[in-house]
Amino acid sequence: MKKAFLFLVGSLLMLVRVAGDPRVHTVNITCGHQLEHNSSIFVPNFVTTMENISEQMRTSGFGLAVTGSGLDINYGLAQCYGDLSLLDCVLCYAEARTLLPQCYPYNGGRIYLDGCFMRSENYSFFGEYEGPEDRAVCGNGTRKNSSFQESARKAVMRAVASAPSNGGYARVQVQVSGAANKSAYVLVNCWKTLNSSSCEACLANASASILGCLPWSEGRALNTGCFMRYSDKDFLNKEPGKGRSRGMIAAIVVSVVSALVVLAVGIVIGTRVWKQRSIERKRRGSNDAEKLVKTLNDDSLNFKYSTLEKATGSFDEANKLGQGGFGTVYKGVLPDGREIAVKRLFFNNRHRAANFYNEVNIISSVEHKNLVRLLGCSCSGPESLLVYEFLPNQSLDRFIFDSAKAKTLTWEKRYEIILGTVEGLVYLHEQSKIRIIHRDIKASNILLDSRLRAKIADFGLARSFQEDKSHISTAIAGTLGYMAPEYLAHGQLTEKADVYSFGMLLLEIVTGRQNNRSKNSEYTDSLLTIVS
Ligand SMILES: *[C@@H]1O[C@H](CO)[C@@H](O)[C@H](O)[C@H]1NC(C)=O
Ligand SMILES: *[C@@H]1O[C@H](CO)[C@@H](O)[C@H](O)[C@H]1NC(C)=O
Ligand SMILES: *[C@@H]1O[C@H](CO)[C@@H](O)[C@H](O)[C@H]1NC(C)=O
Ligand SMILES: *[C@@H]1O[C@H](CO)[C@@H](O)[C@H](O)[C@H]1NC(C)=O
Ligand SMILES: *[C@@H]1O[C@H](CO)[C@@H](O)[C@H](O)[C@H]1NC(C)=O
Ligand SMILES: *[C@@H]1O[C@H](CO)[C@@H](O)[C@H](O)[C@H]1NC(C)=O
Ligand SMILES: *[C@@H]1O[C@H](CO)[C@@H](O)[C@H](O)[C@H]1NC(C)=O
Ligand SMILES: *[C@@H]1O[C@H](CO)[C@@H](O)[C@H](O)[C@H]1NC(C)=O
Ligand SMILES: *[C@@H]1O[C@H](CO)[C@@H](O)[C@H](O)[C@H]1NC(C)=O
Repeated sequence: MKKAFLFLVGSLLMLVRVAGDPRVHTVNITCGHQLEHNSSIFVPNFVTTMENISEQMRTSGFGLAVTGSGLDINYGLAQCYGDLSLLDCVLCYAEARTLLPQCYPYNGGRIYLDGCFMRSENYSFFGEYEGPEDRAVCGNGTRKNSSFQESARKAVMRAVASAPSNGGYARVQVQVSGAANKSAYVLVNCWKTLNSSSCEACLANASASILGCLPWSEGRALNTGCFMRYSDKDFLNKEPGKGRSRGMIAAIVVSVVSALVVLAVGIVIGTRVWKQRSIERKRRGSNDAEKLVKTLNDDSLNFKYSTLEKATGSFDEANKLGQGGFGTVYKGVLPDGREIAVKRLFFNNRHRAANFYNEVNIISSVEHKNLVRLLGCSCSGPESLLVYEFLPNQSLDRFIFDSAKAKTLTWEKRYEIILGTVEGLVYLHEQSKIRIIHRDIKASNILLDSRLRAKIADFGLARSFQEDKSHISTAIAGTLGYMAPEYLAHGQLTEKADVYSFGMLLLEIVTGRQNNRSKNSEYTDSLLTIVS
């Protein structure tokens, strides 16, 4: 089986290095203070704005949209900084739109990433360039000496001088005197809706506050109308334009090749699983229908809000197990001693939660050993809560990315986990009644039971939200770095999107490296780039 892994890694080594750096590290999210007015109007408006902007980002790296009218009208703006290729821009925007909905139910918010910016409000803010929350965020990496500080000041001043007449964008590199290969690097960018005098005013404030970060090696200014960063590291991408279309083509090549590789491995593993499964299915088929009817009439699935509140110690921070795309998960203990995991959904609308529960319930009423069991729901209380079986070993990412714990996962165990995940996925994809595309396969969604067997979590969530076209979560399913390029770029969703994510997961299980980011905030190369 090691051979299979080596084959996979070897094949991926042949892939060409393509992408630049989309710099998806989040510097800050700031949410507004006003609640949305009517969620059944606000949410669809917001989702439409994000979709509309998405189209524009693909072609110009910048997008503006206005959706709806009245109190819940939605204005949106997103922009990638000038050194990002369009492909990287799509990646950065994907991250931004995944994170910004955290601000809900507040009706406004802005997110600054290292590669792009996005803001949404219920009024036209397009001409704003200053605000009370403008500030600098300083890095605390290393203290630099006076030579660097001088270069950084020079670079900032040059960028500020040239940007307003250059579409609001400038990048500058100034060598540190006496150090041949040391430089200060600066990027400044105003939003494209500003005229040059507003841009100038924004940069004047930003430069004054960012220089307060010296002597630290990193500084970023997060202003209402502009973004600015200086660093001792060369974080800038190669000049855009060069190789932009080549990048696109190469990306397609990579996705096709990697899909083939992953498919090949998947077929090898899958056919073994398949034989077993079809025997099992014949045995079980009629049982499922009976179970379904029973489940739908079963009141025991409904948990009281107060019971769950008590079980989790009123959602005590100490009981927090993790944070997912749809909510926060807490550990709980029921009065009878049973341990459970309680998911507290971000979206807190009873009617929706009930629909959603029915949907998830139908999906999960058919049990499978590689899928996490949904035990019930509290849909009528003040908050929407889902109750799952509790798995003591938590998620796969806590093992493979932890050097000490990784040792407990032998190759045999890893192989079993991969097989289990494949079985669960095949089940979701091929189940006769409902075809389920998971959309968010990643290490933190693979939970491990007491014997370290894989169980897929959060399946069905994306689907049930997707069915409800007006729901905000249609926009936030998926995790950057695991999402198939064709899904990111064109929104085409097929089972292959899961296969791609599964391929990424395979790479992670084999290499023990995390795909798209280092925990220590600074952006690192994607795993696909490293293995290429
Ligand atoms: C963003 O900045 C605001 C204002 O400085 C701060 O209160 C908040 O904690 C920051 N959020 C994050 C996620 O860093
Ligand atoms: C929200 O808007 C919907 C659609 O216009 C309307 O039916 C509903 O009554 C409104 N809800 C509230 C609380 O105003
Ligand atoms: C985006 O919104 C604008 C108006 O704000 C509209 O003209 C345009 O057709 C929309 N584009 C898409 C792709 O929906
Ligand atoms: C924005 O929403 C708030 C809260 O719902 C409301 O008070 C305010 O009037 C809205 N602003 C506009 C311009 O609609
Ligand atoms: C630039 O825009 C600002 C804000 O919208 C406006 O006050 C100012 O008059 C504009 N300046 C020029 C030169 O157009
Ligand atoms: C930049 O603007 C903010 C908000 O108006 C203000 O608090 C801050 O003092 C200004 N910074 C500088 C250096 O002028
Ligand atoms: C920077 O500050 C953060 C938070 O205060 C801290 O966790 C981190 O260790 C610091 N890093 C360095 C290199 O000092
Ligand atoms: C500052 O540090 C650089 C190396 O990073 C060195 O070459 C330079 O001489 C130093 N300058 C001063 C004034 O110490
Ligand atoms: C600095 O540059 C010189 C020549 O340009 C090169 O030989 C040397 O390896 C470089 N040092 C570092 C640390 O990159």
